[in-house]
Amino acid sequence: MWRKASAAALLALAVGYFYHGSPDLPEQLLQYVGLPSLRASPQSDGSLEQVISAAWETLITLPTRQWSKVAVGVNACVDVVVSGVGLLQAMAVDPGAGLDHEVLHSKEDLKESFIHYMERGAAAERFFSDPEAFQRIARAAAEYPGAKLYVGGNAALIGQKLASYPDLMVLLCGPVGPKLHEMLDEQIVVPPESLQETDEFHLILEYKAGEKWGSTQAPQANRFIFSHDVSNGAMSSLETFVASLDEFEPDLVVLSGLHMMEGQGRELWEERLKEVSGSELFGLTPQKSYYTSWVISKKKNLSASSAFIDVYNLCYCSERFLPALSRQAVSAISDIHKDIPIHLELASMTDRDYMNSLMQEQVMPIVSSIGLNEQELLFLSQAGEGPHSELAAWKGVPDVGRVSDILLWILEQHGRSDPSSEADLTRIHFHTLAYHILATVDGYWGNQAAAVMAGARVASTQACGLRSVDPSKVEVKAPLEFHSSHGEPREKLTLNPAAPVTAWRRGNVTFHLTVVLVCKQPLRTVGLGDAISAEGLVYSELKTPQPF
Ligand SMILES: *[C@@H]1O[C@H](CO)[C@@H](O)[C@H](O)[C@H]1NC(C)=O
Ligand SMILES: *[C@@H]1O[C@H](CO)[C@@H](O)[C@H](O)[C@H]1NC(C)=O
Repeated sequence: MWRKASAAALLALAVGYFYHGSPDLPEQLLQYVGLPSLRASPQSDGSLEQVISAAWETLITLPTRQWSKVAVGVNACVDVVVSGVGLLQAMAVDPGAGLDHEVLHSKEDLKESFIHYMERGAAAERFFSDPEAFQRIARAAAEYPGAKLYVGGNAALIGQKLASYPDLMVLLCGPVGPKLHEMLDEQIVVPPESLQETDEFHLILEYKAGEKWGSTQAPQANRFIFSHDVSNGAMSSLETFVASLDEFEPDLVVLSGLHMMEGQGRELWEERLKEVSGSELFGLTPQKSYYTSWVISKKKNLSASSAFIDVYNLCYCSERFLPALSRQAVSAISDIHKDIPIHLELASMTDRDYMNSLMQEQVMPIVSSIGLNEQELLFLSQAGEGPHSELAAWKGVPDVGRVSDILLWILEQHGRSDPSSEADLTRIHFHTLAYHILATVDGYWGNQAAAVMAGARVASTQACGLRSVDPSKVEVKAPLEFHSSHGEPREKLTLNPAAPVTAWRRGNVTFHLTVVLVCKQPLRTVGLGDAISAEGLVYSELKTPQPF
């Protein structure tokens, strides 16, 4: 107890110390800050990476008030990682010419698309439309010698990470088949409605740099991913999720994998939507209408969310396709908002249209917290014509000043930076390879320094496949000097390796930045964003909002 308190005091001191920009930093630290070229030379007190890693160990402490029950939804699956060429050969497929297909309908389509991407060394993800053919391929893949099976799906990965904290009860809603159930942490509760007879498999066909098949040669290692998600692509998991909340009574809800409803199921949805001509809501995709109604019901303060039922029925309620929506689910949706903070993980939403719809349907204001990476951050800015939306893409390490501008814009335009705003959004956890920023509206969150460091630490350890940071296997890739904004007025900031969180304020928002000790030879980067956000949430504390 005493230990924890003193560590917390040390953290407060360390951060406060740096916050106020003390001029007399110990000389050895100034060397690190001012002369990054010294990094490589051996130091008596250890390398830059050693100093940061040691500082993390002392400064990362759990908040006083922790979550006790977290509900996570909505996607889950089993990832099967297998040699692409090996599997196709085992399925008696001959090599040939490559051809990209938007949707895979057969083994032939799979082969052609796989070759198309393999000869480019590019990553791709596709939906396989034929359920029987997919099941046959999935079985062959799972049984293929050397195939590796992992827990997959953003929500399941977040659940697994949260379940590594023994005092935390985790409810996971998503399609859980027998194989996945067996692989999940024992501490994870799966509601009976989420259990299914068959697993949803994601097949990840790997190839190595220089690997050959027929006349095709891969210029670099990469993976081709395909799946036939029924539940992940449908709304059923979200309904089950919302229905389970009543009984579970979580103090935090984490939504991730909503993008699954978009990509894979798009064809089906669009087909279904064609049947609903004449509706003013024609053209809405299911998740959009879900959110539309969510927003309408919130705005209009509808007790039974009749808005939801209207939109739902009009757009895609078809007995053949979706189970009927229960009234309980509807009222539970309203309940989520009133008391429980919601974190929405946007990681890997690579679809710009979907980002646009998130912005247009004003999803941002109805969640309390979001997690995203540099790509999604830029998409959001482009969708809403925010700062630096003229950038086509980031070049190298995203500029801290620009990232800070966009984060501030999101919290001011779509968040609760102004206390008179009705928006709930008060927290953004931004993660990119080289550094992380936790931006919070003042007065709503505590323990941000520890939270942002904890997220960075898990990025280092998980990528290297280790339990703790090994300073010899990681490197700092972010500049230790940066600016609080891209334009004027701006503050010049530095990161102190011995207290590796730099904090600054703009308006009513405080930013906490730490660098990532980037794994030099990453083993597995799937689900890294999910782990970072999960860890950041565990170390975050929601303050009782101040009345204004
Ligand atoms: C919303 O509805 C509830 C009861 O259904 C009521 O107590 C509350 O005051 C309403 N809020 C607003 C802002 O109208
Ligand atoms: C910051 O908060 C104050 C009240 O505490 C409010 O008057 C002001 O408008 C807010 N600023 C922004 C940029 O939202």
